[in-house]
Amino acid sequence: MNASVLEALSLAPKVAAAPPAAVHIEATGVSKQYGAKGVLALDQVSLSVREGEFLSILGPSGCGKSTLLRCVAGLERPTGGEIRVHGEPVRKPPANMGVVFQRDVLLEWRSILDNMFLQVDFRGEPRGRYMERAHELLDLFGLKGFEKAFPAQLSGGMRQRAAICRALLANPDLLLMDEPFGALDALTRDQMNLELQKIWSASRRTILFVTHSIGEAVFLSDRVVVMSPRPGRIAMTLTIDLPRPRRMMVREMPEFALYCGQIRALFGDMGLLKDE
Ligand SMILES: Nc1ncnc2c1ncn2[C@@H]1O[C@H](COP(=O)(O)OP(=O)(O)O)[C@@H](O)[C@H]1O
Ligand SMILES: [Mg+2]
Repeated sequence: MNASVLEALSLAPKVAAAPPAAVHIEATGVSKQYGAKGVLALDQVSLSVREGEFLSILGPSGCGKSTLLRCVAGLERPTGGEIRVHGEPVRKPPANMGVVFQRDVLLEWRSILDNMFLQVDFRGEPRGRYMERAHELLDLFGLKGFEKAFPAQLSGGMRQRAAICRALLANPDLLLMDEPFGALDALTRDQMNLELQKIWSASRRTILFVTHSIGEAVFLSDRVVVMSPRPGRIAMTLTIDLPRPRRMMVREMPEFALYCGQIRALFGDMGLLKDE
């Protein structure tokens, strides 16, 4: 008897539903005001990110995306609400977290390998126990042979890859990325999107990814959270139900266009996009 008949008879072996993934990051009513009477950058943002999820925060420039990310990273304190990482309120940068910024923030006077070991050196840990992983990462990101090169000798894409290697060195379970590919040319950016997807698929770390590119957010994410202009609020959350692994071709699919169209329409409603 074939499976569909069994199913119709309700005799098919029941596949136990996978338990829902645990919550990794929980933001509850998070607000951030810079200065007593200053800019309200975030207004009552509530957001839950599951373990292993790839979630993008998408929004216009100045809507508070970086502020939100810095609050999650413990680099900034919210003025209202609370952020918990693995159930613990964030008071300082959590252990087990890697951060990649838009500008690669590599130190020009340190070699690529020395840049990767910046935090390890800073913490006064011996390099030895990370050395094998460092070389694996460099290999994986096409930087083998550039260990001794200085940042100025690398292309923009290579520099950003080095910054990602650095963030991944301590094997963090949470990766925060703030417009990491914003400064790259279109082709390099596409390539980096593919590489990031590969890394994420292989390791299933939680990734909180900030971008202002609609296509990039839809391509990479399980969910896209769209923010309104300042003060940043969550305007829409979209679950991206496209099969993985996603190849560049996925961008030609009608479903892909529909997701992008939905977000573009929302930006239009917000007065951010006038298309007439
Ligand atoms: N350190 C700061 N001091 C004062 N205002 C800030 C600071 N950082 C960001 N802002 C303001 O908060 C708002 C949100 O900024 P940001 O989080 O950088 O937005 P985004 O990353 O979405 O472009 C902007 O109006 C910005 O000028
Ligand atoms: Mg920003």
